[in-house]
Amino acid sequence: MNKRIAVLPGDGIGPEVTAIAVQVLKKIGEVFDHQFTFEEGLVGAIAIDETGNPFPDETLQLCQSADAILFGAIGHPKYDNDPTAPVRPEQGLLAMRKALGLYANIRPVNTFKALADASPLKREIVEGVDFVVFRELTGGSYFGKKGRSDDRLSAYDTCTYTHDEIYRITQLAFEAAAKRRKKVTLVDKANVMETSRLWREVVQKYAAEHPEIELELMFVDNAAMALIQNPRRFDVILTENMFGDILTDEASVITGSLGMLPSASVGSQVALYEPIHGSYPQAAGQNIANPMAAVLSAATLLETSFNLMAEGKTIRHAVEEALNLGYVTKDINPDKFMSTTEVGQKICDFI
Ligand code: IPM
Ligand code: MN
Repeated sequence: MNKRIAVLPGDGIGPEVTAIAVQVLKKIGEVFDHQFTFEEGLVGAIAIDETGNPFPDETLQLCQSADAILFGAIGHPKYDNDPTAPVRPEQGLLAMRKALGLYANIRPVNTFKALADASPLKREIVEGVDFVVFRELTGGSYFGKKGRSDDRLSAYDTCTYTHDEIYRITQLAFEAAAKRRKKVTLVDKANVMETSRLWREVVQKYAAEHPEIELELMFVDNAAMALIQNPRRFDVILTENMFGDILTDEASVITGSLGMLPSASVGSQVALYEPIHGSYPQAAGQNIANPMAAVLSAATLLETSFNLMAEGKTIRHAVEEALNLGYVTKDINPDKFMSTTEVGQKICDFI
């Protein structure tokens, strides 16, 4: 198979973890006889430094002409405490999601046997957790009208959703549930927000037409609690942009580390794969970042965009083998850990 993969390392630990993911994909290419070509593009703070634009046109074109996109992370501390910065790295990520129509962010959460004791939750709560969050990614308060009053003493971020924006991701979530345990939990704040009431309307109507899937409705505050008390109760969680952002960071802790979770962002065209963690600038350049989320994102890329199921499975196995041998980074075991490149090499050895 011949495929072009756009690689956007981004900021902080992004370049270190995507380098490992690319190394793993190259090894898969050798073993399974595929020709993967990798082309790098700029996005985020590094793109601002080099071009003034966090998502340059060249990067957009690179993405549009690629068969899949592998992305690292975005964000730099020099922008975080400066609310007046005219351009911000995160705008690059949001612009990219919008321009590529990546409306659904799919974040699977499952535990690894070797990491059951790395979770801050009790083993009996985290064992066997297996759910997937469908987070809407191009709507809501992230993209609604925002601004300040003339005197700058009041600010607003508008949360807007349309029927169609809700419908298309609902369809994906129900399709996923049909292949899983056949349950969708819609997470919202319908007791307060009008957008949530529209979500309920659209999703309940869809559910009535798909009776083989059980629909559960849950307020987001309650869901935040249930994720900690009984995460096994969830199969597919469907939710809007901001709630999904917050709940998936929370959910990642169940697995033992935010450094383990991959994600796929899909839409009508090319799909993008990225770890759910951020740029973790404190760790950048130290060879201590956990590359597993990036590597698992590469596995998801092969499975989802190229339908290379055996190849994806090989990567997942290799990650588990490495974990079983204690090849973990500092985020998982601060007393006994390996470097990013050692973990990456071990995963490649198992392929
Ligand atoms: C994520 C990140 C982004 C988001 C930030 C960096 C804009 O937290 O992908 O979850 O909020 O969507
Ligand atoms: Mn986030």
